[in-house]
Amino acid sequence: MSMTEFGYDFVLDLEDREHNGINYFTRYNVNNGEPEEVMSVALDAEGPHGRYNMCDTIMCKMPTGVTVDEAFKMCHMHEFGYETFFVDSGLMHLYVDGKVCMVKTGDIIQLQAGQVHAMASEEDVKWRGWFHDLDSFHNGIQAGKVAARLAKTGVPRDDPEFMAARMATGKDFYLCEPPVYDRIPTEEMMAVRHPDRPLAQFDFEGFSIRQITRRCENAGVSELILCRMEPGFSFSYGYHKLREQYYVRTGKVKLELFGDEYIVTGGSIINIPILAPFTITAIEQSDVYDINGQANWFPFFLNLESIRKKDPDRLNDPETLRFLKEKFNVETAAISTSLR
Ligand SMILES: [Fe+2]
Repeated sequence: MSMTEFGYDFVLDLEDREHNGINYFTRYNVNNGEPEEVMSVALDAEGPHGRYNMCDTIMCKMPTGVTVDEAFKMCHMHEFGYETFFVDSGLMHLYVDGKVCMVKTGDIIQLQAGQVHAMASEEDVKWRGWFHDLDSFHNGIQAGKVAARLAKTGVPRDDPEFMAARMATGKDFYLCEPPVYDRIPTEEMMAVRHPDRPLAQFDFEGFSIRQITRRCENAGVSELILCRMEPGFSFSYGYHKLREQYYVRTGKVKLELFGDEYIVTGGSIINIPILAPFTITAIEQSDVYDINGQANWFPFFLNLESIRKKDPDRLNDPETLRFLKEKFNVETAAISTSLR
């Protein structure tokens, strides 16, 4: 596919672990030797705020006989980094800032800078995360690779000088004490989002827009928007200035790019290089998330809603929409319904 040309695949099917080109590795518990995580860095960080850094992880079921309290591992926080996780299977206890709730398939977790968090899995959990501004994570992966190479030249893995230098590369990981907590219903945990409980929702012919996280929760960098596409609905981009990345969480869509067609199924990431024209069409009802989108989607749709309700005649003038799109950084060139 495109890995060598662009540094990432245009379509990355996370469900197809055999063939998606990602290297998974298992991290074992240092005390009991049980597997804790099967993880991979599916996509490396890029540019300011370390965008697009995706990690595909199975959070392993806690061993039999271990209590939830014992299973909470690496309780920690980040000073600047923030994280978005899709829970795509399984059941897990999520600890955030003194509270614990249960999260399950379909939930989305938004962890902001300064929030102390930890997890313990009741079942194996598909934990698909995007990290932002998280040097410690990115540097940790790099450091591990360097240490492995150095070990081959005879440098001990625990060389104190290396370890000290490693610690100084990124300090955005603060290990915390084991959690003490109150248990609350999932709906009351601010960090847990769900497409059925969006922060805002705008319905149109053929598609629904749902706001899952706010820009102010992502250091002003981006917001997480779901586009629920009905079969046949499509959208296109022309020579767009910004990199586009989507997570097709459920359903089936067709991607047209560089004269090729890709059928993209649930659990896949779509990566579009800057400037590359493309079209995405829903084959089935599909939930497509705009990941790291730099458009100001929420104010765009909020403004559009005002015009739709208060002065719909203005939408007959193509200038109205063109002006709104330019103002809010929306680069969509065309959509397949009456709204254009
Ligand atoms: Fe974290």
